Amino acid sequence: AGYSHGYKAVGRDFPNSSVGWYRKKISIPESDLGKRISLVFDGVFRNSIVWVNGHYLGQEPSGYNQFDYDISDLLNYGGENTIAVRVDATMEEGWFYEGAGIYRHVWLQKTAPIHVVQNGTFVSSEISAQQAKLTIQTDLLNETATQEEVLLIQRIMDREGIIVAEQKTNTQGLPSYKKQQINSSITIANPKLWDVTSPYLYTLITTVEHKGRAIDTYTTRFGIRSIRFDAQEGFFLNGKRVELKGTNNHQDHAGVGTAMPDSLQRWRIQNLKSWGNNAYRCSHHPPSPELLDLCDELGMLVIDENRLMRTTEGGLRDIEKMIKRDRNHPSVISWSVGNEEWAIEGSIVGERIVATLQNYCKSLDATRPTTAGVSNGFKSGISNNLEVMGYNYLGNGDIEDHYKKFPNQPGMGTEEGSTFATRGIYFTDDQLHYRAAYDQKPRPTFYSIEEGWKFYASRKNLAGVFYWTGFDYRGEATPYSWPSVMSYFGMMDLCGFPKDNVFYLKSWWKDEPSLHILPHWNWAGKEGQEIAVWVYSNCEEVELFLNGKSKGKKKMEVNGHLEWKLNYTPGTVMAVGYRNGKKILTQSVKTTGSPQSIKLSTGQNNIKADVAAVSVVKVEALDQEQLPVPIADNEIIFEIEGPGKIIGVGNGNQTSLEKEKFVDSVYTLAISNFTERELRTDVNVLNPSDSGRIKAFIDRDYKKLASAYSYKGEFTLPDNFKESKITLFHKNIGKQQTIWVNGHIVAADLKEGEKYEGWLLNHAILKTGVNTIVIQGTALPKKYEWEMPNQDPGLIQVIMPAKSWKRKLFSGLAQVIVQSTGEKGVIKLTATSAGLKVGQLVIKAE
Ligand code: GAL
Repeated sequence: AGYSHGYKAVGRDFPNSSVGWYRKKISIPESDLGKRISLVFDGVFRNSIVWVNGHYLGQEPSGYNQFDYDISDLLNYGGENTIAVRVDATMEEGWFYEGAGIYRHVWLQKTAPIHVVQNGTFVSSEISAQQAKLTIQTDLLNETATQEEVLLIQRIMDREGIIVAEQKTNTQGLPSYKKQQINSSITIANPKLWDVTSPYLYTLITTVEHKGRAIDTYTTRFGIRSIRFDAQEGFFLNGKRVELKGTNNHQDHAGVGTAMPDSLQRWRIQNLKSWGNNAYRCSHHPPSPELLDLCDELGMLVIDENRLMRTTEGGLRDIEKMIKRDRNHPSVISWSVGNEEWAIEGSIVGERIVATLQNYCKSLDATRPTTAGVSNGFKSGISNNLEVMGYNYLGNGDIEDHYKKFPNQPGMGTEEGSTFATRGIYFTDDQLHYRAAYDQKPRPTFYSIEEGWKFYASRKNLAGVFYWTGFDYRGEATPYSWPSVMSYFGMMDLCGFPKDNVFYLKSWWKDEPSLHILPHWNWAGKEGQEIAVWVYSNCEEVELFLNGKSKGKKKMEVNGHLEWKLNYTPGTVMAVGYRNGKKILTQSVKTTGSPQSIKLSTGQNNIKADVAAVSVVKVEALDQEQLPVPIADNEIIFEIEGPGKIIGVGNGNQTSLEKEKFVDSVYTLAISNFTERELRTDVNVLNPSDSGRIKAFIDRDYKKLASAYSYKGEFTLPDNFKESKITLFHKNIGKQQTIWVNGHIVAADLKEGEKYEGWLLNHAILKTGVNTIVIQGTALPKKYEWEMPNQDPGLIQVIMPAKSWKRKLFSGLAQVIVQSTGEKGVIKLTATSAGLKVGQLVIKAE
């Protein structure tokens, strides 16, 4: 399987696991008749085809676009409706793990025939001394046969739910099926501005009134803020310079891949904010809408990125979808038209493509600048004409030189770092695929996290930097390959457990005093050997002690770190941080004993009784003094009770091939060696005789059918079949038929055209190895000359129940993600491991 996608068995070499089908039944009340109803998919990876009630709706190649289908005319009102979706992840879109299937929300949307179109509003603002002038575009569509007049009512609601402005506009008449754009403006006095520290949000409530009746309502959340990229002074938010302190991120997480519940997204953004991030680059495609909602709510600046740099109709359509969907988010500060298109970024073709894309972006949103991630040496091609230059890596070219040539082009570090680290590991071992978590240059020509930050922090003309990456991700296991399946680039591992670089950045990205020591102090067998001890801190001076003895006080260089060399003896390494000559912080690492008990903890002890809610649980092993053991690798088994389920486990080990999900495995067995012979006796009386049998349906002459047939076939069961649930799903091969398995009757008198669920097979009639199935049925004739009656007897489904959830600790940690089932109650998570005291955690779902 593919290196870039983390060796999941998906792709053209794995046809059996690359195509998936979804089927869901929904009921639509009779009272909905007359509404326009659509299905909105937020993202399906990829090449999806959708049907409703057997009607083909369309196809969407992109795995990242939002798309919708109007299904009003196809529905069964007052009854059941079937949605079917075929998803095909055979082809890749990126060079990182991309998941497979429906991984974002799907919505059923109901509107009046005259309504605001999907993503049909755009609010922008101009801020002056005491007020904000909002410009609002609204796209209306009249899906009736006649021209209609409507009243558009726009209300602005503040965070407290108070309407602070209102305006009514009479449309001049909306023609049938012609989209019409209404432009209006509203002034808000003393607006509260959206900022990264105080992300204030307003809501625009658009109501369409027809003949005095409100028929459609559309809400748009937005923020009032100004942004500006300046070629000399960097990035400005509401007139103040803000240094962009960011990371790039893909959209997968340990245990769940790309299918991330909304509250896990929230947890990830909060995690990034907690160590000083104020910016997030969606590498290398548009994110889920919820991610942007969260960035709006939590105060995180975003580069929203397009996947493919192309100007064909499809390429422009992707850009349009991204911008129309996302342009009301105050968090979004730039549209990125692409990333590192090596074949074109240095050429005149790339330059032309980017010029077209930038112009196209401007036509949809003139309030944000465009950018792209560039890696080709910054000497030619798209770096000449990007509105905001995106430098991918100091090591790729001479940034200063480029700036000299283009002094009026603002710039930022769209990628930097690309360093390798294994969380909690402080030695490099190419056999074990471990990379020491000291901040090292990844390659001789590339730069460490600290070198990168020093460069950007000291250049005010550059707007800031986005490290590659915040979280590790599946795929690109550089500098290794199989059995490593994840990247080593993250400031945090795939679970979001911090590697030490987090503490370097936290010291210089946040004002609050911080102090962190690395490595841990469990080095049995290395007694007397020299160990490099690093301290990350924003204190002015730090003194280090080993077992109470001072190893010297050192001055901290701004944006630097401190190093000591200590000879290992077990005990305590303590750091004391000083500011203005005063002790302000103490931090220590201690040699621990062996693991004695399991500790489960979470920041989410109370969650909503809602399937979008999760609790992210940390698993540790404690020694006899209750200290977490940093080298513990015990295997922990999890059990859960109450209205919650485990949806994934992980531990951040890039080389772990342990399972991330323990779910029932479902597979099917074909009925093989299928034979037939003519049957002259009653089809309901078993007549298994083998004389005269031939291969079933071979050269059947439908003009000379026998009145009935006896069919016989086989299926093979494994040794442990009794642990599984085995179901026969038959398809009628007779107008009337009866089925036996190993001589026992399973289903009698089945009629063609009638609906049956599967037939659960009793273990008592089954055996390991070859089992026999006999089907006796009256003939199934052709209804039409051109028709081929069914010749497929069906198949056997085997469901092997999941084994217990389990995971090994890696460098002392593992993670369990618990999701609410939607019901209220107390969820109890229990963790056991041989020789350790049981750990328990109670989560309330309310
Ligand atoms: C960059 C690229 C990223 C990632 C990274 C790995 O060039 O933009 O997507 O592949 O390299 O080092």
